[in-house]
Amino acid sequence: MTQSEATATGLDSEASGVRRRDFIEVAAVSAAGVGALAALVPLISQMSPSADVLAEASTEVDISAIAVGQAIKAVFRKQPVFVRHLTPAEIAEAEKVPLSDLRDPETLEQRTKPGKTQWLITMGVCTHLGCVPLGTAQGEPKGEFGGYFCPCHGSQYDTAARIRKGPAPKNLLVPEYAFTSPTVVKIG
Ligand code: FES
Repeated sequence: MTQSEATATGLDSEASGVRRRDFIEVAAVSAAGVGALAALVPLISQMSPSADVLAEASTEVDISAIAVGQAIKAVFRKQPVFVRHLTPAEIAEAEKVPLSDLRDPETLEQRTKPGKTQWLITMGVCTHLGCVPLGTAQGEPKGEFGGYFCPCHGSQYDTAARIRKGPAPKNLLVPEYAFTSPTVVKIG
């Protein structure tokens, strides 16, 4: 092959390489366009929630039967939510932890309502990959820190449901909620 042939071949392959790249880019842009259109459909449908979605927007929980030291699992927007009646010892345990020891620093006071630090209300969804941690039912493991233990990959939460050990990056999420009476909590 002469140098000019080699150069021509090189140019050809370079040119076809360019064309291939162009095609790939056009294909990627087209796919993104389709993706954007597809994403609009759920977005639009979310803007006009159906009646059953509206009904699920909040959950009322009667907490009168939850004894000190007990917890229940309720459902909020199809996800578990933990309502826990902390003991004085569990409150003291949470309050004595220095914020500098925490991966996601928050006090128990910041995670509860004023004057109601005994009521810890969090989503029951591990912040690692979304499993439901154990620790609400009698006899379930609560982990080394006395709160919740995620059986999927071993994340451990303390008595304020703050992440203390394992792969989860954040504390269990505290949802929006309010006490509508001394014994009823409206979540959402
Ligand atoms: Fe909980 Fe992985 S999902 S530790």
